[in-house]
Amino acid sequence: MIVTIDGVAASGKSSVASGVARALGIPYVSSGLLYRTATLLGLEAGLELNDATALLAHLRANPLRLEPRAKGNRVWVGERELTAELHSSRVDAGVSRVAALPEVRAWVDAQLRALPEPFVAEGRDMGTNVFPHAGAKFYLTASPRVRAERRAKERPEDVPAIEAALTERDRLDTVQSAPAPDARVIDTGPLTLDEVIGAVLSELPE
Ligand code: C5P
Repeated sequence: MIVTIDGVAASGKSSVASGVARALGIPYVSSGLLYRTATLLGLEAGLELNDATALLAHLRANPLRLEPRAKGNRVWVGERELTAELHSSRVDAGVSRVAALPEVRAWVDAQLRALPEPFVAEGRDMGTNVFPHAGAKFYLTASPRVRAERRAKERPEDVPAIEAALTERDRLDTVQSAPAPDARVIDTGPLTLDEVIGAVLSELPE
C-alpha cells in the first residue's frame, strides 16, 4: 500500500506525511529531499544547475542514501549527513531549476520506485507520475501568506520575503505540481496539523 501526499511548497506535506506514517506504523519518503540533495551537491561542486549531464555524472559518482524514517527523513552521501543543510534559502532558490531537468526527475523516480512498500510518499508528482496506482492520494494547499507565516518559523528571512520566494517557486513548479484527478484536495489553511492528519487517516481505505 502506498499513500501519496502532494502539494505546493510549505503546505505542510512533510509534517502531515510524518504524522500519517507514524499513525500507520510505516515510513514516509520525502521526494523533495532528493531534489534538494541534487541541488546542494551541484552548488557545492560549482556546476551550472541546468547542466543535466554534469549533474547526473556528479550524482552517480557520489551516491546518496535516503533513510525514510517516519519521524523525519535523513540523507547521507558516504559518511557525511546532509539533512541539516538541505533546507537553506540557497537550496530553496535553486531547487526548481534542478527539478525541471527530465534526467534528474528520472533519477529521483527510479530511487523512489525501488523502495519497499508500504510507505507514505510526499512531493509534487507522487500521485500523478511516480505512483499513479497508489491506494490513496491527497493534495495539500494553503494561501501563500499562511505558508510564508509557517515557514518564517524555520527561516531567518521575514514573511514578505519568504512569501515572494514561495510564490516564485510555485510558478516554477507548476508543471509537476498538479493534483491527480483522483486526489482528495485539502486546504490546510484553517486546519491544525492534527486536523489535517486526522482528515487523511479518515479517508484511507480499510
Ligand atoms: O517539497 P520540497 O519543498 O522540499 O521540494 C523542493 C523542490 O523539489 C520543489 O520546489 C520542487 O521544485 C521539487 N520537487 C519536485 N517534485 C517532487 C518533489 C519536489 O519537483 N515530487
